[in-house]
Amino acid sequence: MAPTPSPWWRSGVVYQIYPRSFGDSDGDGVGDLAGITARLDHLVELGVDALWLSPFYRSPMADFGYDVSDHTDVDPTFGTLADADALVAGAHERGLRVIVDWVPNHTSDRHEWFIASRSSREDPKRSWYVWRDPGPGAGPPNNWTSNFALRGEIPAWTLDERTGQFYLHSFLPEQPDLNWDEPAVREAMHDVLRFWLDRGVDGFRIDVAHALGKDPELLDNEPGRSRHQDWPSVHPRLQAIRRVLEEFDGDRMAVGEVYLLDQEALAPYLRTGDELHLVHNFVFLNLPWSAAGFRATVDEFEQLVGPGAWPAWCLGNHDHARIASRYGPGPARVAAMLLLTLRGTPFLFQGDELGLQDVAVPSERVVDVDGRDPVRAPIPWEPPSRAGSGAGFTTGEPWLPITPEAERVAASVQAGDPESMLTLHRELLALRRSSAALREGSYRSLDAGEAVFAFERGGELAVALNFAPERRRARASGRGRLLLSTRPGAQAGAEVDLAELELGADEGVIVALG
Ligand code: NOJ
Repeated sequence: MAPTPSPWWRSGVVYQIYPRSFGDSDGDGVGDLAGITARLDHLVELGVDALWLSPFYRSPMADFGYDVSDHTDVDPTFGTLADADALVAGAHERGLRVIVDWVPNHTSDRHEWFIASRSSREDPKRSWYVWRDPGPGAGPPNNWTSNFALRGEIPAWTLDERTGQFYLHSFLPEQPDLNWDEPAVREAMHDVLRFWLDRGVDGFRIDVAHALGKDPELLDNEPGRSRHQDWPSVHPRLQAIRRVLEEFDGDRMAVGEVYLLDQEALAPYLRTGDELHLVHNFVFLNLPWSAAGFRATVDEFEQLVGPGAWPAWCLGNHDHARIASRYGPGPARVAAMLLLTLRGTPFLFQGDELGLQDVAVPSERVVDVDGRDPVRAPIPWEPPSRAGSGAGFTTGEPWLPITPEAERVAASVQAGDPESMLTLHRELLALRRSSAALREGSYRSLDAGEAVFAFERGGELAVALNFAPERRRARASGRGRLLLSTRPGAQAGAEVDLAELELGADEGVIVALG
């Protein structure tokens, strides 16, 4: 009997697009959907299987689209619904799946639901958000604080003078939390999923998925016990979301942003197999650059979820400093090999395949409330000497500065350079595509030399990654042929004995065993 093929979201690689910063088709300096459609061939040539679009819905942009004021329309900054349809069609024609961001925990304060809800205590939509009387001393109802703490901790509550009650907002005051204890809210948000599934999207990235369950009594958070997220009610809610996806054919998928910095708390979201298909692992994303730390974390997660569950791995997104800035340009090449060789679905953030660094944003150009502008700088497609100062991203004034290194790191420049970060990504993705062991094989970490993280995939391949900025002996077991090294010029096909192999500074290798 032929083995059942894995669903695309297990065997594929997902590429995250931040629409404001990918491609600007109309010269207003802000990226848009038509600008993404025009660049889809970059993803095909890179070799990814799916793209995830950060929000492009109608929004006042207090949090650049994570404050949605209409879930079923496109913000004019990004285009129209017809542009969204064209993007999905263009992706599907090229064999790329499309997942879109779904932001169920909160809406914009300009969403018609919230405008109704705040209009009076008697409004039928009052119960759609979380309203409470003032707490002791006329202050907030409890001690919960907003997740945005750049300018110091602020309460997760804002008083609405007109009706004399506070409303809950886990993020900005412009992002009131929906009340997921209210069945009508759950139904309305399920209908948003159906709207996009009907339009042909292949799945969703669920923003702050763990926040869909909160303590209904709204008791104070205590040290070691946060009640504003990860409450047991979250699990049946995620199961119900999965059932909505299953109303549609074709392997629709949900990946959750479950921002819990404890893998034991994260594992239950994945383990049962009837809620989220994938979860983003922020313990992994936030690790310092250490072979022992990565080994321990991957081993622990593999052991917690078991061989039946499928991990997802990412080292960057639109909320975190760039990989090449956090770890450095040398380690960034090793990080790419790590991400694309572990057992699980890799998620790449746009621009990391170019090794982009965070871009310094002068204070007068800062626009984000939480310090995230440097990672959101636009993609340099062409060297400015050829394409002008917009580097092929825009013909206008970009909303955030383009990297000062655009001349050297532009995608078109790297495409012709066999030693570039882009070429390394293309090679890694091609290898992954051609190797069932890499896509689907088992994972087993190997004892290795100091500063080396080594593991075996499917009994056929070994990966050895040197985390040190100097030469290190791999000291792992296994012999075979070199398939790929992060070191430019390394000889593929060379005989390798992992016990003796000398890895260069910041060098990772993939070896075909046997
Ligand atoms: C997580 C998103 O990734 C982030 O960009 C956003 O600000 C918050 N959720 C609130 O939606």
